[in-house]
Order: sequence, then structure tokens, then C-alpha cells
Amino acid sequence: MKDRFSGGYRLGLFITFEGCDGSGKSTQARMLKAYLTEQGHDVVHTREPGGSPGAEEIRGLILNGDMDRWSPETEILLFTAARRDHVERVIRPTLARGGIVICDRFADSTRVYQGVARADLRPVVDQLHELMIGIEPDHTFLLDIDPDESLNRGLQRIGAEERFESFGADLQRAIHAGFSRLEDEFPERVHRVSGEGEIDEVFERVRALADSIISAKSAPTPN
Ligand code: TYD
Repeated sequence: MKDRFSGGYRLGLFITFEGCDGSGKSTQARMLKAYLTEQGHDVVHTREPGGSPGAEEIRGLILNGDMDRWSPETEILLFTAARRDHVERVIRPTLARGGIVICDRFADSTRVYQGVARADLRPVVDQLHELMIGIEPDHTFLLDIDPDESLNRGLQRIGAEERFESFGADLQRAIHAGFSRLEDEFPERVHRVSGEGEIDEVFERVRALADSIISAKSAPTPN
């Protein structure tokens, strides 16, 4: 697959985890990193907003403070600035050397949170993405749990970065619906994985999907 900005071919594999707050995706992303590293792959586990030193600084600006600290438009610019740095410094170099990137949230989160749920700005999100990011994951694992359940899980771990965690049930449902629509929009890339059940049961689903993706990618291509 071609990377529009570097002009080169990507040898590596770019996997993202997406889902509502409290969907368990961060735990699953960590477990997949451990599993694939054990199998001998070169794996970088990273996250958004953040993932590079500069982007982590921007993360602090975005997530701390009052809900109305930034307008929705400014927020999109901050997420996109953080993403650009992360792509330049971590994601693209890892893919260029043939590694596997596992990223906890990426552009789909902006499409859902800023594009439909927290603001109605999907065209702006898409234009900025096209202009400044220009790369999509090869595969996205969409961790799906009932939105009311994810709200409960999220509320149990409110900490310093509480700006985005204090969502109400309606917003959580809008986020859930937004992610489900992405599954229809990008059916080849976005794979819904049920997040219901014990952590190890969910990981069995994640592992089976990852194994099938990697074996399809490693299979010799016909001449
Ligand atoms: P994070 O701390 O990673 O929360 P979680 O553990 O639930 O993934 O993400 C912080 C919040 O930022 C989360 O509520 C989702 C939100 N977010 C956006 O609104 N837009 C974005 O583009 C990204 C990457 C995250």
C-alpha cells in the first residue's frame, strides 16, 4: 500500500484500536502488543492523543481543563497537530522499517468525537485529515460494548484527565452509534470485536483476528 506523503511502499502493518471510553480497548491493545512481540514481530504500541513527546504535550492541552477551554474547531486543530507529529516521528518510521504499529485511537476517534458526537464537523475533520495526515490504518479493531456499560466503566476511573470522561449517557450512545457507522463506511478495514465478557475471552477474539490478518499478509502473492 502506498503512503501518500512519503511516496514509498509500506511494508509494515498499521493496526488501530477504537471504541467508546471504557470499552477495554487499551487493555486489549497492550495484550496484543505482548502477544505479537512474543511471536518475534517488531511491534510499537502507542496511543492518541499523544504517542510522541510533542504530541503528549498537546495531549495535556487538550485533556486538562474545562469542557469549554477550546472551541470544537480549535480542538480538531489540536488533535490533528498532535497526530501529525505522531505520524511523522513514530508511526511512519515504524512502518517504513517493516514494523507493526498498534495504536490506541487514531483518526476514527476524531471522525466520531469531533465529527458527529461532540460537534457536527465531519467535513472539517475529513478535509484536515486529507491535507495533513493522509494515512489510514490497515486494520481497525472496534471494541464494542453496550454504551451504558462503557459509561459505568469509564466513570469508575476518572482521574486528572477528566475532561473527556464526564460524558453523559446520551453522548456515550452518540459515540457508540458513530463508531458503528464507521464500520459501514469502511467495511474492509474496520472489524467489530465484541468487548463483552472476561478480558481473556475478549483477547481470544482479538488474537484470532490478528492471526488471520497477519497470515493473509504473509501469504505469498500470486505472480
Ligand atoms: P484516552 O485518554 O485515550 O481515553 P480512553 O482511555 O477512553 O481511550 O482519550 C482521551 C479522550 O480523547 C477520549 O475521551 C476520546 C477523546 N478523543 C477525541 O475526542 N478525539 C480524538 O481524535 C482522539 C484521539 C481522542
